[in-house]
Amino acid sequence: MRKVVTIDGPAGAGKSTVARLLASRLGWRLLDTGAMYRAVTLAAIRAEIDLANEDALGTLAEGLAVRLPPGEVLLNGEDVTGLIRTVEITRASRYLADSPRVRAQLVRLQREFARENEVVAEGRDQGTVVFPDAFRKFFLTATLAERARRRHAEFVLRGEAIELAAVERDLRERDERDAARAIAPMKAADDAHILDTTGLDLDAVVGRIEREIVGEPESDPS
Ligand code: DC
Repeated sequence: MRKVVTIDGPAGAGKSTVARLLASRLGWRLLDTGAMYRAVTLAAIRAEIDLANEDALGTLAEGLAVRLPPGEVLLNGEDVTGLIRTVEITRASRYLADSPRVRAQLVRLQREFARENEVVAEGRDQGTVVFPDAFRKFFLTATLAERARRRHAEFVLRGEAIELAAVERDLRERDERDAARAIAPMKAADDAHILDTTGLDLDAVVGRIEREIVGEPESDPS
């Protein structure tokens, strides 16, 4: 395994934006594991699979090629980057996230990715399950209200009409499911740095993380 920095936390805590900027500043690859769950969700919806059928989900996931070249999400070679951020995929993704076989398959792909690249790995279980020996671990949080505001703004930017209250309700439900999941529940690793991003701008958060990674510049004693 090359060097891995993990960034976990609930939806809307700023993980994606922070991880993307951090990866670009370090010159490392971004491993957006949520995008992998979303791509498999898209494939399941297209195949009209019963989302409660664990066997069907497992077989589907094991037969898919999900790849993350820089800036893209490829599902069996098709660029699905723009198709996986809809409200529909977001809601349905919980079935795939709850599936042990889907998780096992995606964890395999995630570890493979880190064999070839230095990575900033972003998700829910990166510091706890996928990369327990990561070089540095971070767990980002923010208040529910702030996370809902951020997610709502993203949907609006993409032209999706959804009420702020509905986004907040979806987030609360997803947090509860993510945290209560029997397998790979969302929680901070014991050795993770916990960062509350409420009221902090992107540069401030990335700056703090970078200082943890590269260390404070030595002060000149002369
Ligand atoms: O971070 P996101 O909203 O793109 O995640 C999409 C879905 O995948 C969401 O239901 C949480 C789930 N997920 C997960 O279970 N484990 C991960 N490492 C990343 C995402």
